[in-house]
Amino acid sequence: MKSYSIKELLQTKPLKQEVEVNGWVKTFRSNRFIALNDGSTINNIQCVVDFEQFNEDLLKKIATGAALKIKGVLVESLGKGQNVEIQTHEIFVHGVSDPDSYPIQPKKHSMEFLREQAHLRIRTNTFAAVMRVRSALSFAIHAYFQKNGFYYFHAPIITGSDAEGAGEMFRVSTLDPKAPPLTDSGEVNYKEDFFGKETNLTVSGQLEAEAYAMGLGKVYTFGPTFRAENSNTSRHLAEFWMIEPEMAFYDLKDNMDLAEDFIKKIISYLLENCEEDLKFLEKRLLDEEKTKPMAERSEMALIDRLKFVVDNEFIRITYTEAIEILRNSKPNKKKKFQYQIDEWGTDLQSEHERYLVEKHFKCPVILFDYPAKIKAFYMRLNEDGKTVRAMDILFPGIGEIVGGSQREERLDVLKEKIVALGIDEKELWWYLDLRKYGTAIHSGFGLGFERMVQFATGMGNIRDVIPFPRTPQNAEF
Ligand code: 4AD
Ligand code: MG
Repeated sequence: MKSYSIKELLQTKPLKQEVEVNGWVKTFRSNRFIALNDGSTINNIQCVVDFEQFNEDLLKKIATGAALKIKGVLVESLGKGQNVEIQTHEIFVHGVSDPDSYPIQPKKHSMEFLREQAHLRIRTNTFAAVMRVRSALSFAIHAYFQKNGFYYFHAPIITGSDAEGAGEMFRVSTLDPKAPPLTDSGEVNYKEDFFGKETNLTVSGQLEAEAYAMGLGKVYTFGPTFRAENSNTSRHLAEFWMIEPEMAFYDLKDNMDLAEDFIKKIISYLLENCEEDLKFLEKRLLDEEKTKPMAERSEMALIDRLKFVVDNEFIRITYTEAIEILRNSKPNKKKKFQYQIDEWGTDLQSEHERYLVEKHFKCPVILFDYPAKIKAFYMRLNEDGKTVRAMDILFPGIGEIVGGSQREERLDVLKEKIVALGIDEKELWWYLDLRKYGTAIHSGFGLGFERMVQFATGMGNIRDVIPFPRTPQNAEF
């Protein structure tokens, strides 16, 4: 007999047909009602058991967490909460679950507790909903680019260059850490390492994507990236996924237009395709917010927030304009910011980004034309000689969700920059080559995938939107 997913069964007309379904027990009430879930939907199917038909030993095995195969008849349900149910006539126990030690009890658990049970937390409604949305979002991202003439480009994971120049990389080496080979001057001799040079896990696929954009025109990466920054925040991971489109012949404005359209389209996809999960997550968030003081609660419910992003134009202002707004803002004057804004040129902290988005504009904001000094080496210098064509997109509740720029395509200007920053020109010989052979203006950006999942699901901590989070002191699973 064909097995159906619970999602399929719940949409099937009940005609007293024989059906078979597999799943895990959520609850077993009154020795009579099994709520079964198989991950295909947030909803459970109710399987009604006539306990007189089954022997006691079998019934004892039906506890929360057990895996079952159930055969029965699909009928209209007279009970509240579901349209159909199964009148069970056969139960096969795939695997029992000890109700006393099973960590996922049918009650509310804290997110902290569930992080310690990362291998089992997917059995909760919240994590299953988040991960289904995460999957749908991945699909929407690929669909958007594939529809719009972009090629999926697989950036290498092991690289010899530090794309962001921030020196926050994880070394990849096969040398014996206790007794590495040394050079005459006593330093580790990486010539003897696996790749014959120092290599790291990539922090960004951008530099390699630039090479491919200069041949394929429009490309995008979607892969894991790694940063050894010691930030224990609700928005940083050591291993996160990033989407990086890179387009030949795009200037900064084209880049911003693309980023805004892209974000709106992928969120629309979720609104159209993940309604049940989003409704569940919206309710979860409302319940969570009830425990917070009024001032910290968000003004909009989750789905309205998503619709707001789709329906409204993002505000676009320069860094210089943003600094003016911040300098004159109430929290700055009253010294409420942890980092005061005094001078042009200071880097914005997330408290400033969130002030702009959540308090001042109440709308997603694209900040552009940042001071060269606080941005990466590859960004195109403006005519003023002090700002670069960078753009960051700031989102409510998240802060920076996208970082991008128009790239410096002029060989002489780029070389000067590299020398001034003390980067070894030889390391970037191939990147400079791109400026020697058919250089052209080009642009791109990086969207932090988990931050987007956070926004879409309303989850407060980035550790709860990736299956097995990697953060400082934490790689258990
Ligand atoms: O602003 P970032 O560092 O930009 C780049 O890496 C560029 N190479 C992108 C490009 O132009 N192709 O990172 C891009 C985005 C950030 O806006 C943020 O959303 C996310 O990646 N991000 C992180 N997400 C989770 N954990 C971290 N540690 C992150 N660091 C950056
Ligand atoms: Mg950035």
